[in-house]
Amino acid sequence: MTSTLLVTGGAGYIGSHTCIELLQEGHQVVVLDNLSNSSPEALHRVEAITSKAPIFIEGDIRNPALVRDILARYNPEHIIHFAGLKAVGESVKKPLDYYANNVSGTLVLCQEMAAHGLFNLVFSSSATVYGDPASLPIRENFPRSATNPYGRSKLMVERMLEDLYLSDPRWNIAILRYFNPAGAHPSGLVGEDPADIPNNLVPYISQVATGRREKLQVFGNDWSTADGTGVRDYIHVVDLARGHLCALRQLSQGCGLKAWNLGLGRGYSVLEVVSAFEKASGQTIPYQFVDRRPGDIAACWADPASSQKDLQWSAEKGIEEMMADAWRWQSTNPDGYSRLSGPERLRKLDR
Ligand code: NAD
Ligand code: UFG
Repeated sequence: MTSTLLVTGGAGYIGSHTCIELLQEGHQVVVLDNLSNSSPEALHRVEAITSKAPIFIEGDIRNPALVRDILARYNPEHIIHFAGLKAVGESVKKPLDYYANNVSGTLVLCQEMAAHGLFNLVFSSSATVYGDPASLPIRENFPRSATNPYGRSKLMVERMLEDLYLSDPRWNIAILRYFNPAGAHPSGLVGEDPADIPNNLVPYISQVATGRREKLQVFGNDWSTADGTGVRDYIHVVDLARGHLCALRQLSQGCGLKAWNLGLGRGYSVLEVVSAFEKASGQTIPYQFVDRRPGDIAACWADPASSQKDLQWSAEKGIEEMMADAWRWQSTNPDGYSRLSGPERLRKLDR
């Protein structure tokens, strides 16, 4: 069954891929994004892929009057809430920005949803809420903790949503804990476009491959892992996007509040990722070992059994496809969406 959805942060990396899947399934999509970390060009590309245009509203989720107006005008049946800030290092320097965007933003959204009589929410959480897990793989009922303001903002929102559900069982809330999203749309038209020097491994490697960065710094080769480098559960962004559609079905069936891991269920080391990227791209990735990055953990991967069972979802794309798609995106869009010249960008915005 198709429906109308509000997608906050829909111009961003995961949001734009999710908009593609939603539009392809015939849903009506309204995007609210303040473009603080994205470009409207992402949504033009979404339209090019799907031949359907999401409705785009530029604005902030912390603006209650705007959210109220959007809910009244479009009357969505569900909200998928991606909007927020996500850079761990920046969150240490600007904690209030993170609490304002991630915590207060979600608070405003939920208040306006309740006032409108809308109780179906998918929330973007993160494997970061598991802190440094005592054992692997990670199940949804593992203890939660956070080591930085970004992680704490996600944990605070999770707890706020739990309290909200306890206070009013009309809420249906799917908390999706993403492991490490990677890759891009197979068309090569939509992908990750970090505004600054990439923090994350795959976008960094991609920029080394195009010559924009000299070499990869591998943060530590003395971790207690098979080759000494950090191990993570990388999940293709298209698989992740599909997980949201599965979660919507749960909301429609009245799931209450549930948390699900979205991961592949196996880990790859930094060196394995480098090697997979080299194979997919035919490029050599120079790297050097440097000190561990503060706050990093040795290894992290998901037990996806609950999402497989409840959501009828599993990741279908492996590391080879993630790297091949990341390379296709990066090599055809070496400067991301900003490669458009000024006049060309303005023409696009005028459409
Ligand atoms: P992104 O930065 O590409 O997308 C977030 C979008 O939200 C951007 O388009 C940004 O402009 C918008 N935004 C930010 N604050 C806003 C506000 N106050 N009002 C309106 N729009 C706002 O990030 P992403 O990688 O697509 O992540 C989406 C969500 O998933 C985030 O909540 C993030 O914390 C979470 N998440 C991401 C990862 C990851 O590694 N990418 C991992 C786990 C969880
Ligand atoms: N790494 C490097 N060099 C780099 C970047 C990363 O060696 O230049 C290593 C890291 O030390 C780690 C691995 O590559 O071992 C992955 O690092 P990322 O920064 O790509 O990802 P993280 O696991 O640190 O964190 C990411 C997001 C978080 C999110 C988490 C969910 O940044 O916001 O995944 O699992 F919470």
